[in-house]
Amino acid sequence: MLLSTSTNQHLAQALSRALDEPVLPLSYRRFADGELIVEVADNAELPGRVTRTADRFSVDDRAIVIGSTINDRAHIELLQLQDLALEGGADEIITVVPYLGYARQDVAHTPGQPVSARAMVRSLSSHTDRLVTVNPHERSVLEFASAETTARSAVEALAPGLDIEAEDPLFVAPDTAARDLARTLCEAVGSGSIDHLEKERIDDTTVDITVSETDVSGREVVLVDDVISTGGTMSTAARALRSAGVSSVQAACVHPVLAAGAYTRLKAAGIDEVVGTDTIESPVSSVSVAATIAATL
Ligand code: R5P
Repeated sequence: MLLSTSTNQHLAQALSRALDEPVLPLSYRRFADGELIVEVADNAELPGRVTRTADRFSVDDRAIVIGSTINDRAHIELLQLQDLALEGGADEIITVVPYLGYARQDVAHTPGQPVSARAMVRSLSSHTDRLVTVNPHERSVLEFASAETTARSAVEALAPGLDIEAEDPLFVAPDTAARDLARTLCEAVGSGSIDHLEKERIDDTTVDITVSETDVSGREVVLVDDVISTGGTMSTAARALRSAGVSSVQAACVHPVLAAGAYTRLKAAGIDEVVGTDTIESPVSSVSVAATIAATL
């Protein structure tokens, strides 16, 4: 049985089909003080191994609790669903966090900051048997977990979502850290070459990008990264590549966070297409990670 946060309803349905396990119908409301209450929907048709009487809720099954922690509300909702599974006495609780928020805060970047990723991973792993995630920004954050963890890559899954005409497309990482992602996607497509740019972060929304010495004029380029958040990285990289004479630019990412204004920023920079996965529901989430997660479960 699946319990999905409201942020991942499409992915939960795809996973439900892949695993042949039902999604528990839930309803939401807020108390006057703003607190969220999530509960099994009234009059819901419950899956065979889930029962609710006047005084007892029971889950005679494994519970797969799924939700990307795209914001603070989603994190709290996921904790509530874990506790609902616990309350129902589920045989096993598996928590799937397709996009693990706060993973970029994996260290205290300056003295006086918390290691926020540690706080998040500890809270998510303390009431589950297993924690599964997809392309966490830093794999090392999973070492903070108190449960068994699995991290899967969904970069390969982006390949069918791309529109590639050239025989030798160029897969470009906007920084050295994303070079492996570019290589993985290039291999999944089965043709092309890879390159990376040099990135220096100026502030939360601005980066400096330096192109390499590779001759990119006339090349069909796919920019590859794990996350597109403000779009600062991808739009600056696209402008630099356009200036260097590339013929087209697509942007591919696993997690299309797309903070306010990001999509417009990407298009204004001359990016022809943006392709992302459904770890986060967005207008560019054309590729599903359901098969990747189902294979893991
Ligand atoms: C950073 O290291 C990540 O891999 C991404 O490049 C970054 O998070 C993208 O953020 P933004 O879209 O705000 O530039």
